Amino acid sequence: MEKYIVNGNHKLTGEANIHGAKNAAVAIIPATLLAQGPCVLENVPPVTDVGVLCDILNILGAKVSWRDKFTLELDTANLNKAVVPADLTNKLRASYYLMGAMLGRFGQATVGLPGGCKIGPRPIDQHLKGFHALGCETEIKSGDVVMTSPGLTGGHVYFDVVSVGATVNVMLAAAGAEGTTVIENAAREPEIIDLANFLNQIGVGVKGAGTGTIRISGAKERDNAVHSIIPDRIEAGTFMIAAAATGGDIRVKGVIPRHLEPVTAKLRETGSQVTEGDDWIQVQGAERGCAVDLKTLPYPGFPTDLQQPMSSYLARCTGTSVVTENIFENRFRYVEELKRMGANIKVEGRVAIIEGVDELEGSVITAHDLRASSALVIAALSASGQSEIRGIEFLNRGYYDFAGKLERLGARIKKD
Ligand code: EPZ
Repeated sequence: MEKYIVNGNHKLTGEANIHGAKNAAVAIIPATLLAQGPCVLENVPPVTDVGVLCDILNILGAKVSWRDKFTLELDTANLNKAVVPADLTNKLRASYYLMGAMLGRFGQATVGLPGGCKIGPRPIDQHLKGFHALGCETEIKSGDVVMTSPGLTGGHVYFDVVSVGATVNVMLAAAGAEGTTVIENAAREPEIIDLANFLNQIGVGVKGAGTGTIRISGAKERDNAVHSIIPDRIEAGTFMIAAAATGGDIRVKGVIPRHLEPVTAKLRETGSQVTEGDDWIQVQGAERGCAVDLKTLPYPGFPTDLQQPMSSYLARCTGTSVVTENIFENRFRYVEELKRMGANIKVEGRVAIIEGVDELEGSVITAHDLRASSALVIAALSASGQSEIRGIEFLNRGYYDFAGKLERLGARIKKD
């Protein structure tokens, strides 16, 4: 198990450049299966989830290589088998996008069930509901999703819950279907718009991405594309919260400020000063922030992926914060670790009641999922004394050079 040693209680100051969005990259990399010709993806974050996905494509017969540190070349012409074994797919959640991408390309596929962070039940019923609307039969058999169709045709699907994954998957499958598909109650996340832009570039007709209704006109003849991935709003939000939690002053650069509005608004409520320009946001934390209530919601609500880092910050704010996790039911496991540091938090179902304490104390703490790991680093940075943070391999799934960036902002953080 990799670990970090953090000596806390230092204000973080300076600039942090934000990389490309992990959750856009892991959707667009499988989407290259639908392109006819080699694609180039720029601004790809070299995080381990991206690496694992590239390895899977290479094993399946595609040619995927890094042109430079952040640019991927992908040629999927030689990938001619619509089967992805479960021992590959169980390495990460985003492998489920191979279901939609394979279906869109081949009209049928057998893809192992996905793995990923253990943050509560993560059903795929809405993904399958969408595939059914395109005329596909599905069956779960020995850990695989077996999908068959006489040829996909455009259909109409109304999602019962707003799901990023199901929206992406149905867009991918619909890209290769005959006719037009309409998705209602679609997710509106910026990563969905990024995927739509990629699909439009390769000749698929996608309209309405970013709203609750998306129309996809499938294309038989498709092109190749050069596409640059949008900035990672979750990485940016993590550094914004780190500024607030340490009473520091950080400018995150290379971001789309509109994507971070829910975070900006909440940080202002806690007393942070937040200013922004065309592609940067600057957060100046208060000496000690004040409590706020928070509910996670699909975009443009407050992102579940920042609930954990934000709660670490609120653990030291003055007053009582009520944090409601509406997306994933098991995203409070890290609270036990914060308690080791002296946090006063009570979890009741989907709600955490956080009584702000004067001080968190350095401790030995363990992360069990990706965003819990950044949350624990933030807690350690704002705590007195030394912390040992275990489970850092989770952090590397979604953040690139996290410790390096923090060090450049003045953090005392070392890998052990
Ligand atoms: C994506 O997960 C992200 N993962 C998550 O990021 C993110 O937390 C989440 O969206 C919400 O924003 C990727 O993009 C790879 P959902 P996903 O389907 O697609 C329920 C991170 O840390 N649901 O939008 O799995 C589900 O249980 C990760 O970067 C169904 O009921 O999330 C949840 O309650 C973690 N049936 C809600 O919908 C379904 O078929 C939203 O999940 C699908 C989902």
